[in-house]
This record gives sequence, C-alpha cells and structure tokens, in this order.
Amino acid sequence: MGKIIVCKAAELPPGRMQKVAADGKEILVANINGNFYAMDDTCTHSGASLSEGTIEGNNVVCGWHGAKFDCTTAKLAEFPVKIKDLRSYKVVLESDNIFLEM
Ligand code: FES
Repeated sequence: MGKIIVCKAAELPPGRMQKVAADGKEILVANINGNFYAMDDTCTHSGASLSEGTIEGNNVVCGWHGAKFDCTTAKLAEFPVKIKDLRSYKVVLESDNIFLEM
C-alpha cells in the first residue's frame, strides 16, 4: 500500500474533478462540497472516462449515456438498467496536498 499525490487541494475546488493514473488504474478524484472522494474513472456501462462527464450535486454524470454515480459512495445513483458500482479509494489530505492511498 502506498500514497500517491494527486494535486494541491487548492487546485481542485468544490464541484471539480480530476483524473489520475495510479497503480495501473485510472482514478477520478472529485471535490464534493469541500470533501475529496476517489473512485474508478471508467464507467461500468461501456467504459467512458467519467472525468470527461459533469458533476451534479454529489453525482458524476457519465458523458456518454448519462449514468450517475454518487461520488461519496462510488455507487450507481441513477440509470435505466442496473450496472455495477464503482470501486472507491481512500483520499487523505496532508499539508494541503491530496493523496490517494492505494
Ligand atoms: S458509458 Fe457511461 S453511461 Fe454508458
């Protein structure tokens, strides 16, 4: 298990997200109301990069077909058919830097 720096907290204001490559995976890190969350960046429907979608409230909305995943839980929030939840990752804030714990 290791820690990977994402960016400075000030570089990721509320309502914004960023994709990072870590441990061979693509991971989305989002700021939801001042708290940071991380989950898989790949949509479990057809593989779009979720970081190219939008944030609505707590949800990231996939830019391809509109699946919504709750950033605070990494679970599917809304889609016409059941698709898998995302995997979540632990985010740590230290000295104003955002880290992923892998
Ligand atoms: S690829 Fe994300 S909703 Fe279809």
